[in-house]
Amino acid sequence: MIAIGSDHGGFALKQEIIKYLTDKGYEITDMGCFSEESCDYPDYAYIVTDAVTTEECEKGILICGTGIGMSITCNRMAGARAAVVNDCFSAQAAREHNDANILCLGARVTGPGLACKIAEIFLETPFDPDERHVRRIRKFETGYYPED
Ligand code: RB5
Repeated sequence: MIAIGSDHGGFALKQEIIKYLTDKGYEITDMGCFSEESCDYPDYAYIVTDAVTTEECEKGILICGTGIGMSITCNRMAGARAAVVNDCFSAQAAREHNDANILCLGARVTGPGLACKIAEIFLETPFDPDERHVRRIRKFETGYYPED
């Protein structure tokens, strides 16, 4: 199950991505918002991140105007590895190198065709469990600092 959420700025793109991914066979749970009425992106970032970090959902997709507010909010929560992605190369690298578990998109940055493709690449690309990637993720997940 894939969790998806947006604020008002990402609402229209969220609807397009839900249709695109559902047509591809993905099961999507829409965690809001449910209209273009102005709302606060952290509310939806928290709901989707919680679903991912508790393993209720395997990955999350969040959309706001830029993807930035969503990613900042997500990455304050333990276990979140949220990446703002605006191109296909970064979608693949975010999965292979960073094991990103939440994709953040900017509806005012990325058009719907590219955003749908980015979401598909993000969901289909596995983590590359090479030792160097595992080591680097462990460093930021455990609060390691270079002087330690
Ligand atoms: C809302 O106007 C906008 O600030 C929000 O969608 C997002 O871009 C924040 O990062």
